[in-house]
Amino acid sequence: MDNSSSRHPFLAGLSKHRGAPPTIVVIFGASGDLTARKLIPAIYNLACDNLLPSDFHLVGFGRSKVPDEEFRKLAEEAITQFSRRPYQEEIWKRVAERTFYEAGGYDEGEAFVRLRERIESIEKSLGNPVQSLFYVSTPPSVFRPILEGLGSSGLAKRHRGTDRASKVIIEKPFGRDLASAQELNRVVASVFEEKQVFRIDHYLGKETVQDLLVQRFANTIFEPIWNRRYVDCVQITVAEDLGVGTRGGYYEQSGAMRDMIQNHTMQLLALTAMEPPVSLDPESVRDEKVKVLKAIRPLDLSLEEGDVVRGQYAEGLIGGKKVPGYTQEQGVKEESTTETYTALRLKISNWRWEGVPFYLRSGKRMARRVSEIAIQFKRPPGHLFAESDLIQVSPNTLAFQIQPDEGSTVLLNSKIPGLETRVQPVKMHFRYKTTFGSNTPEAYERLVLDAMIGDGTLFIRGDETEASWKLVTPVHEWWNSLGIRGMETYAAGSWGPLAAERLLWKNKHQWRRP
Ligand code: BG6
Repeated sequence: MDNSSSRHPFLAGLSKHRGAPPTIVVIFGASGDLTARKLIPAIYNLACDNLLPSDFHLVGFGRSKVPDEEFRKLAEEAITQFSRRPYQEEIWKRVAERTFYEAGGYDEGEAFVRLRERIESIEKSLGNPVQSLFYVSTPPSVFRPILEGLGSSGLAKRHRGTDRASKVIIEKPFGRDLASAQELNRVVASVFEEKQVFRIDHYLGKETVQDLLVQRFANTIFEPIWNRRYVDCVQITVAEDLGVGTRGGYYEQSGAMRDMIQNHTMQLLALTAMEPPVSLDPESVRDEKVKVLKAIRPLDLSLEEGDVVRGQYAEGLIGGKKVPGYTQEQGVKEESTTETYTALRLKISNWRWEGVPFYLRSGKRMARRVSEIAIQFKRPPGHLFAESDLIQVSPNTLAFQIQPDEGSTVLLNSKIPGLETRVQPVKMHFRYKTTFGSNTPEAYERLVLDAMIGDGTLFIRGDETEASWKLVTPVHEWWNSLGIRGMETYAAGSWGPLAAERLLWKNKHQWRRP
């Protein structure tokens, strides 16, 4: 009996993944934080769902010397600590038996030759060609030598032209400005063909972000109103209540613009604003995203009337507890000019969106952790329900809650029961948890699996990342010239600096309080 319709949609939609060829995943940066928190748990959960390809092997690669047995132990601990599903020995054992570790320097040619020999010997023992998936999860300073090592050792070229061709996943940040992103793209292109390359943005792997495409294009009711005639503004929020924690050193080099805006929020914008793609194949979707990113006008960079606001958190209260300000965090300079909050007002110059501001904001230590995309529609003509104390007509709003409380909400105006005509905004909710249960896969599960079958739809193409850097690089240059001028502070636990409120008032808009 086919019970696919009663299964979780993730599993039902994944039948194609059962066709992934035998694969060896090699993680560069095997002792890193991301490997423990996300990658190993993702592989474990795929094993739980029986979604790993047959003959799956895992090889950790890193600078420190770690025996295979110890790497397996570390992986087991990572699963116990970070997996969404509890650790089950019999499931992990099957993967652990095929898990190894290779020590070497990222710029050590010999180490890549050893890695190739390891892969060849696994392949020989299986008697079948195996695809290699290289996951570059290291600090960006060694992206280049790793890519070059994969090139010079011949690993990048293995089985090219077949369904077992090598693939590479590259973690963020992909460059730190337009020039370095272009340079990195050149290195990537000298070693791999674009279809072998998977630039990751884990937001694209989130269930709700994928659902945005379904909601937009599998329903007819939205398309007629999804344009400048009906939409007043779009607000995209990616707010976190956490601070930088132990990542101060990394964050000092990054800031909110590079860490969140250039990638995650710009991707959310692209999916919201793009034209319907001709199909869901990777190139069609990414062509549309690039087109809309290119249609964004250069930002107005001025302090009073400009399109950009930055802020840094000062000490404040989170969940009733006092937390330190950014410059008191570990690894952060006292005189740091790194922004922990950015808000932008973007204008998209195309037929659909001319005149509709897109507001983006992202910050650490904000009032709550929430990511959402809100489409705010124009107000109805006021002659029937003139605003008064009794009648307050709110703009209709369609909000996609990316996380937490995944779902969507429509805000409508409704009559309050009674003999007087009184109007109140009401909400219509769809909640994932209520409809589908709460066991939603993590973004990395989806993305690792997609890369194994070679589906790049949820990954970023080289030209996309450059289009996005082209927009934000002038902002960094401007900020560098300003030093600390124009940097506002906001109390930890608040909704960001006042300047961000002013950014919207100019257009008679207001940030939502999601
Ligand atoms: C990462 C950033 O890309 O995304 C982090 O480097 C941030 O600073 C994280 O905390 C947020 O991801 P999520 O999935 O928890 O919203």
